[in-house]
Amino acid sequence: MAKKKPLVYVTRKIPTEALARLHQRCEVLLWGEELPPPREQLLRDIADADGLLCLLTDPIDETVLKAASKLRVISNMAVGYDNIDVAAATKRGIPVGNTPDVLTETSADFAFALLMAAARRLPEGERYVKAGHWRTWSPMLLMGQDIYGATLGIIGLGRIGQAVARRARGFDMRILYHGGSNAEAAAVLGAQQVDLATLLQESDFVSLHVPLTPATRGMIGAQELRLMKPTAILINTARGPVVEAMALYEALKNGEIAAAALDVTDPEPLPADHPLLQLENCLVTPHIASSSQATRARMAHMAVNNVIAGLQGEPLPYCVNPAVYPDKP
Ligand code: GLV
Repeated sequence: MAKKKPLVYVTRKIPTEALARLHQRCEVLLWGEELPPPREQLLRDIADADGLLCLLTDPIDETVLKAASKLRVISNMAVGYDNIDVAAATKRGIPVGNTPDVLTETSADFAFALLMAAARRLPEGERYVKAGHWRTWSPMLLMGQDIYGATLGIIGLGRIGQAVARRARGFDMRILYHGGSNAEAAAVLGAQQVDLATLLQESDFVSLHVPLTPATRGMIGAQELRLMKPTAILINTARGPVVEAMALYEALKNGEIAAAALDVTDPEPLPADHPLLQLENCLVTPHIASSSQATRARMAHMAVNNVIAGLQGEPLPYCVNPAVYPDKP
């Protein structure tokens, strides 16, 4: 009798080729809807699963893990994994995988695109033209901020923060950073380490590249925004809750900072009547920084590789809780 294939629960459609590879090796239970599986559904579907391929929209907590008595691997198709209770998974000996590196450059491209779009008021310009307001060339129309030669403050000089800094060098920017320090990389990039207050006070652009942890939740609130220049622009491609949404709204409305460009928000998605969406100087995109066709395909392959390795009892190629492998150096 043929050996029964392991069952993998996949919480949304992922790029086709990677999904096809998973189908070849495993039984796949796919939640094929546009929105994430509702909690009750997830708790039911996970009951017989040997593996889970999930997304950052799926909270995988103690309750889910309790419902998943057979689970041997969790693979998140994202570099961030704040949606997963990693400590609870580790306690059960379940490895958790993520998809770092393959999205670094694509995400940095997007962070820089947001920076440029907000600095030069691209969305406002487009709205203006399409609304039929463009009558003539005008000396003071939609004046924005210069990017070249400006000071960029990077909070979290990790992989993506460094990739953003590389782009900034091409624009002759002065680069400051706080946190995630890697002195060698910083020296190569000509980035200067400063404390958070100095970074906020001196930067024309502040770009966030920290993971969401208890220490970074709400790290940019009213007090921090008040330290920024009235001409400064905040860019968030990290996680929404790193910034206090209503404090940001007040700062933008009262001109404490000039603009914000957010690919991540709190909550996510933002309801259509959220105050931030009523502001001309707040650009919001739907968490798409890593969304190029090539990068999402690579992320899906990595997520599938992590699942397959976990089901074969091999160390995951990208594991966020190596403590589950006490024998490995
Ligand atoms: C996206 O936000 C990711 O963590 O990959």
